[in-house]
Amino acid sequence: MNQIHPIDVILHKRDGAALSDEEIQGFVRAIVERTGERQLVTDAQIAAFLMAVFLKGLDARELATLTAAMRFSGDTFDASSLKTFTIDKHSTGGVGDKTSLLIAPILAAAGIATPTSEEVPGICVPMISGRSLGHTGGTLDKLETIPGFNTQLGLAQLAEVLRRCGAALIGQTPRIVPADRTLYALRDHTGTVESPFLITASIMSKKLAESLNALVLDVKVGSGAFMPSYEQSRFLAELMVQTGERAGTRTVALLTNMEQPLGRFSGNWVEVWECVDIMKQVRHPMSADLIELSNLLSGSMLHLAGRAKTPEEGAGLADEILTSGAAYRAWLGIVEAQGGDLSVFEDPASHHRPQASTVIKASRPGYLASMDCKQVGWAVQRLGAGRAKPGDPVSAHAGIESHAKLGQRVEEGQALFTLFSEDESLLEEPRKMLLDTLVISEKPVNAPPLLREVVSAAGHESIS
Ligand code: URA
Repeated sequence: MNQIHPIDVILHKRDGAALSDEEIQGFVRAIVERTGERQLVTDAQIAAFLMAVFLKGLDARELATLTAAMRFSGDTFDASSLKTFTIDKHSTGGVGDKTSLLIAPILAAAGIATPTSEEVPGICVPMISGRSLGHTGGTLDKLETIPGFNTQLGLAQLAEVLRRCGAALIGQTPRIVPADRTLYALRDHTGTVESPFLITASIMSKKLAESLNALVLDVKVGSGAFMPSYEQSRFLAELMVQTGERAGTRTVALLTNMEQPLGRFSGNWVEVWECVDIMKQVRHPMSADLIELSNLLSGSMLHLAGRAKTPEEGAGLADEILTSGAAYRAWLGIVEAQGGDLSVFEDPASHHRPQASTVIKASRPGYLASMDCKQVGWAVQRLGAGRAKPGDPVSAHAGIESHAKLGQRVEEGQALFTLFSEDESLLEEPRKMLLDTLVISEKPVNAPPLLREVVSAAGHESIS
């Protein structure tokens, strides 16, 4: 294979040329093959490449090549020996977004419930999840509040849990997509995180490394989304769908609203507690949007996996699996297989032990009209649920409870949010942040719809 010269690749992209496959593959190879003594490409050159891509973009072929080069830069998970339909869900990140904790057991229960045959193979969900990022929560941080739960499984252990349970929830290992580690860390310091091309390559390389038959993406829109406008979220969804399909993975993206925290709680243990309640048929009214979104995403997955004729039928099936208790049984199996202590689910409320709390009340009667959901997410992080720098511990018990949803009528003095923390001194700043962002209007306002649009290889389907 010919060696590339990093400076040529940077100059070509800087001047707006399309890079050849050899240039992209050579550049990614140089990133992962460099060592202390052999600096095939320097951090400065990688940063310059990232900025050139940020400014000039990539065409569909370049993006597919970059994604594939990153995907194969380390170990990949091959589920072919399990002889199942391998499927996953990925969210671009939200506040109170805990759908993974419901979707993994729903799909596992669906896969186990139907006998495996040539036409309808079993389902397996190798969910490789992340930690909290910016204002958004992380599935791993939530799962690790379950005593003993091991998110750090190797690929052989992952296969074993999948064989037994149909789903597993684990963290990324250092050997999966190592190119993304270097690129992501440099993006964070060079103002190049928000490129839809770089986000697509980063997310899709990791998802495609799971060797998926199909992938459902939950691309957030609204004030709590990473992308600043609806159009940019839709463009990101299109790029990810196009890149997944080019790699041979059926990919569907749901554009969903993130204008307010999803469900009843936002935090770490409190989110596990909420999901356990739902799976045990304790349906709190504030959890309605969470249940709806989990069913919509599971429905799309069940449709792609051949278990339902339409995504709508799939959503109905998902709800049946939830209400029958099958999802809860699958959840207990997954947690047990990953070393978790099941006794905490007997009375999850009793394991919520914040040291301090405060309630935010409506200052006047009216309708809850809007909030900056990103600001709400930052408030949750600053209560202790997130980390100020990589490696910091997160609080299991910090978080917020929502008592009202957008569009709802509220009376003066009615509780809107309860804030929890393990440190009383951490309550004041988030309290101010929430008071500053909540808007109550005199006139009725319409609650925003949860599902806005579906993007697939077939095109777009607008819902609202
Ligand atoms: N999550 C990722 O894994 N990568 C990104 O670039 C953004 C979100």
